[in-house]
Amino acid sequence: MRLLGASEACRTAPSRLAGTLGWPANSSASRFSTAIRTDAGASSRKLEGRRPRREPVELIDAPPPSDRGQCSEPETALERKHRKAAYIASAVCPCMLEWPWVLAQAGRGKPSLLNDRKNEHLDVVLSGRGRSSGQTGFDEIAFEHAALPELDMDDIDLSTTFVGKRINAPFLVSSMTGGPARALAINQNLAEACNALGLPLAIGSQRIAIESRENAGLGQELRRLAPDIPLLANFGAAQLNLGFGLAEAERAVEMIGADALIIHLNPLQEAVQPEGNRNWRGLLGRIETLAGALHVPIIAKEVGAGISGALARRLVDVGVQIIDVAGSGGTSWALVEAERAQSPEQAAIARAFADWGVPTATAIADVRRACPEAVVIGSGGVRDGIDAAKAIWLGANLVGQAAGVLAAATQSAEAVTSHFNVLVQQLRIACFCTGSANLAALKQASLQNRNVSLR
Ligand SMILES: Cc1cc2nc3c(=O)[nH]c(=O)nc-3n(C[C@H](O)[C@H](O)[C@H](O)COP(=O)(O)O)c2cc1C
Repeated sequence: MRLLGASEACRTAPSRLAGTLGWPANSSASRFSTAIRTDAGASSRKLEGRRPRREPVELIDAPPPSDRGQCSEPETALERKHRKAAYIASAVCPCMLEWPWVLAQAGRGKPSLLNDRKNEHLDVVLSGRGRSSGQTGFDEIAFEHAALPELDMDDIDLSTTFVGKRINAPFLVSSMTGGPARALAINQNLAEACNALGLPLAIGSQRIAIESRENAGLGQELRRLAPDIPLLANFGAAQLNLGFGLAEAERAVEMIGADALIIHLNPLQEAVQPEGNRNWRGLLGRIETLAGALHVPIIAKEVGAGISGALARRLVDVGVQIIDVAGSGGTSWALVEAERAQSPEQAAIARAFADWGVPTATAIADVRRACPEAVVIGSGGVRDGIDAAKAIWLGANLVGQAAGVLAAATQSAEAVTSHFNVLVQQLRIACFCTGSANLAALKQASLQNRNVSLR
């Protein structure tokens, strides 16, 4: 594949972009239009109307480091204004993309740099090098086995409600990258599978889509693929100090017809990233303003270092309704960033924080104690349905997984469906063998090691 330089890549007009991605350039009735229709209630039903298998597509190969250098400085407010103006100009009149000034601004490379970074994240996580060797805390818990459950396993009810919608099991696909074109196939596979399974889907950061108008598969097509389930929009809290506000939040939500907006908190990742955003002053107030104005609930979420009970309380007090703890013990963004560090010094700084954070099990229990009224999502290093059962016992309403489903998501919707069928069945067996007829009963299940102090 021919390498596109940063400015050339950023010059890609929407129509050309669509063509590169394999969609008809002028049509939202793209290949997404083969969207399957299923009953949200049919967790075991096979996917119907299958599309031919897609191969992940590449839009922009990573440019060599020298090419990337020009993009690695944090963007100033003035540069951002110029770039926005250039994008607006080029959207109004694509021929303006031939003007040197428009090109220079639009091609300042932010979207391209973000795409490179997101591509590298995918590679590191898929290779298994981003997983912390630390502990989630789930191994400290063992359920007491019920040798006479007095239940019909098939009658166990795993359904629950989330953001006002009924879902078939308490699982959530946690946010994964929405940047590179490769994520297009990943998001389609996840959307189809989640809709068939009746599980919610959180998408990765929409920052690129909001800033560049290149939605890379994060548009209404996603909602058409997943009409029945909760879809969650996403961008980083740090963006609230860089010009994002209510308008951008509404755009993120509207872009996919989302039921809620995730604001992700990733201070560690930003701190160890050379190009990270490190001004986090005043963000709680900005989150409060957003929560007071946005028409959908706000979810505050970490990305693998956990949220403490005390912080969760402050977030809920300013209007956040849902907390996703995304605790430590699973994907470590310090490790992921160490893998893509440009110097031994950067790598050493990041690697020291490989196991940093609040372990997932501790975070769930702590947040539940501090915020009895909040919806809590337990995530971070969830391996299987038994970890999920423990998360629910600790106080989670839902259990999220990201890295664990990524490999399946790069393959097909069927692979994702089969991945979650395994997790759901494991959770069902955990309920059966603790004598729990539903999720409420599972929360009351007895433990073997009664001295566990987590809850
Ligand atoms: C490839 C990849 C990309 C991710 N991108 C995002 C993102 O854009 N926004 C976000 O909130 N979290 C993002 N995350 C973090 C996850 O949603 C999750 O919180 C974290 O990986 C911990 O869960 P895990 O141990 O199951 O992977 C990403 C995770 C992975 C693996």
